[in-house]
Amino acid sequence: MNEKRTSIHGQWSGRLAFILAATGSAVGLGNIWKFPYIAGENGGGAFVLVYLICIALIGVPIMMAEILLGRRGRQNPVHTMATLAEEEGASKAWGLLGWMGVLAGFMILSYYSVVAGWALSYIFEAASGAFSNTDAKGVSAIFSDLTGSASSLMLWHTLFMFMTMIVVAQGVKSGLERAVKWLMPGLFVILVLLVGYAMAEGNFAQGIHFLFSPDFSKLSTDAILIAMGHAFFTLSLGMGAIMIYGSYLPENVSIARTTFMVALADTAVALLAGMAIFPIVFANGLEPGAGPGLVFQTLPIAFGQMPGGVIVGLLFFIMLSFAAWSSSISLIEPAVTWLVENKNLTRGRASILAGMVTWALGIGSALSFNLWGDYKLLDKTFFDLIDYLTANIMLPLGGLAIAIFTGWVMHRSSSRGELQMGESASFELWHFLVRFVAPFAVIIVFFSAIGLIK
Ligand code: PFF
Repeated sequence: MNEKRTSIHGQWSGRLAFILAATGSAVGLGNIWKFPYIAGENGGGAFVLVYLICIALIGVPIMMAEILLGRRGRQNPVHTMATLAEEEGASKAWGLLGWMGVLAGFMILSYYSVVAGWALSYIFEAASGAFSNTDAKGVSAIFSDLTGSASSLMLWHTLFMFMTMIVVAQGVKSGLERAVKWLMPGLFVILVLLVGYAMAEGNFAQGIHFLFSPDFSKLSTDAILIAMGHAFFTLSLGMGAIMIYGSYLPENVSIARTTFMVALADTAVALLAGMAIFPIVFANGLEPGAGPGLVFQTLPIAFGQMPGGVIVGLLFFIMLSFAAWSSSISLIEPAVTWLVENKNLTRGRASILAGMVTWALGIGSALSFNLWGDYKLLDKTFFDLIDYLTANIMLPLGGLAIAIFTGWVMHRSSSRGELQMGESASFELWHFLVRFVAPFAVIIVFFSAIGLIK
């Protein structure tokens, strides 16, 4: 039976600390960099609608499931899954889920760090006044100068990985809580300000129409897969990051309520970013489908033109870098806790080791914007391929396994006890979503994407 375990890595100081950390993990490049560019590439409105449905029907219930597993297991994801499976009379092979998470974490962080490096370098571009009075062409030249230079990208990638390792080595719970408390609201305020600018100076009507009026003829099956994958990515689900954070969660905190807060904050940031970016895209005759450079080629136009734009731009890129930072530490946390618990390494050594592996893998992504740009597999560069594989395949697979485990393997009494929701209608709804809706949705989207269901 489940006697209450404690994590050897300690606990959050309370509910607010967990909400901050989980929001820090969820809100990141995924919201501000990735969401607008994939929405742009996949036709806008219909894609956004599918993404929102996936957040509500798949993301929220799976997030609750992942947190409850973490809090019950209180170990790294590999051992948490193996222990809980044993307790429920299932195979220890469920530990494999944890392994896939550790691997996905390495892979995601390797390219995430390269993009976070762009944000770091833009802090200096903004401070130097490089955006002042530039037009769309000038701003896009700044971006291609940066990505065209292998040595610059390597430098920023190295710096960002270094920053990540320093925090991870000290333990996520020490400094970060405090930083996130100020920076998340700060980011929010700047985004609102930017939406205000977009309203006044951009083509707001067209931007909003693009984002929110669904045209289903533009929606491909691949786009549905990408929207679903992004729901996992943006909420940090399916790879054990939120499970680990759940393992530091005190007993008496409501998992349902905290999940709602995190999902709400995450979705709000993504939508605000879209509402700031697309009006600028249309006002300047840019392409919504411009790809990974979209944010970096649009917002600087606003910073260049608005009064006080140097300061606003500077603050924006500082906060974006922080948002990326607080996400990146959660990406590597599953690997680090595993190394500490199994290989008897100190946190410091474990962080260095995990960081070096990730850094090395990231070289492939840094170079795929320049020297290796022509090497493609399935028409994708190394960067695109790792992104596609992790966000659209590994995370949904991880999420599927979590849904099957909590919905079908775990006894109702175990999950109900952990969620502390009693015999309520909300528990029934959660159980239904996690048992039927989420797994079947993932399976159907997968099969249609590989062409088995037309
Ligand atoms: N949720 C982060 C973002 O949207 O930027 C990325 C991420 C963090 C994905 C942690 C997965 C993860 F485990």
